[in-house]
Amino acid sequence: MKITVVGAGNVGATCANCIAQKELANEVVLVDIKEGVSEGKALDMWETSPINYYDTRVTGTTGNYELTKDSEVVVITSGLPRKPGMSRDDLISTNAGIVKSVTEQVIKYSPDAIIIIVSNPLDVMTYCALLASKKCRNKVFGMAGVLDTARYRSFIAAELNVSPKDIQALLLGGHGDTMVPLPRYTTVGGIPVTELIKEDRLNEIIERTKFGGGELVKLMGTSAWYAPGAAAAQMVEAIVRDQKRIFPVCAYLDGEYGFKDIYLGVPVVLGKEGIERIIEIDLKEDERALLEDSAKSVKSVMEVLDNMKLF
Ligand code: NAI
Ligand code: 2OP
Repeated sequence: MKITVVGAGNVGATCANCIAQKELANEVVLVDIKEGVSEGKALDMWETSPINYYDTRVTGTTGNYELTKDSEVVVITSGLPRKPGMSRDDLISTNAGIVKSVTEQVIKYSPDAIIIIVSNPLDVMTYCALLASKKCRNKVFGMAGVLDTARYRSFIAAELNVSPKDIQALLLGGHGDTMVPLPRYTTVGGIPVTELIKEDRLNEIIERTKFGGGELVKLMGTSAWYAPGAAAAQMVEAIVRDQKRIFPVCAYLDGEYGFKDIYLGVPVVLGKEGIERIIEIDLKEDERALLEDSAKSVKSVMEVLDNMKLF
């Protein structure tokens, strides 16, 4: 089995490294446009195989998509990351063209691949990949909720001084500052978090989660990669091992949650067919209002994509 990761930058290289270390495939192909970068990073990774003890072959190529032929899963991370002061949405003018052309090349050699988008602005870049690939919606989706809930769960674990393994959480909406964490679906070893953390403090943690990407951009001058790369690899794992994991995933909605023709983060079952089911939960009035706000913000970026007349 072959998995391709397009974009050998911070997130793509981290994701490929996680996939190799978990031995999720026989081969991982890393693709970039910068001459030598993917070949160099792939070689460096492969040289860790005797130390980290895996046998997934890691190779790299500068733009030769023939080497990605028959990939089962393709993760697309190519595109500009944020700089301080930029929102994810500021990236659209450059990243839409990149995601479109990369998707077309991927599909040419791996028409049956499941495609996971990471490039920002995430929800709209995933829409762009759906249009470019002309595939069905269960095979083209985006990574955001796994990362955003991981941030939320890690903050709760630190607050309570407990293992992050015991924190379960759900979050809806677009990958932006309007994302919608749901405290009533957050548990700590099965105990509702609302019984363990006071409302005011929990609200602070929720706010920190919403701006979690920006917090790291401010610290590092570019956006995060360890958690994003690991999050995308966890989605790959659910697919290739047909785990039927329930994750918040950026999925195309066709009536679910009352939305049509939009990508938004919702809980799904992830397995070998990609998104095998979208899980709909009843939302309270205030949660629905927040989700509608988030959808509005995604729609406004979709309009920018429309105006670019790429399709
Ligand atoms: P980076 O700048 O380190 O890497 C991006 C790579 O894409 C570069 O190596 C660049 O040469 C390559 N690239 C550009 N055009 C290409 C093309 N046409 N074909 C192949 N490769 C191409 O950026 P980083 O930090 O890896 O972030 C990548 C993207 O992921 C950004 O758009 C960032 O905003 C997004 N991101 C999304 C997250 C999410 O939760 N969905 C989390 C973190 C980052
Ligand atoms: C993040 O959330 C910038 O989307 C990127 O880290």
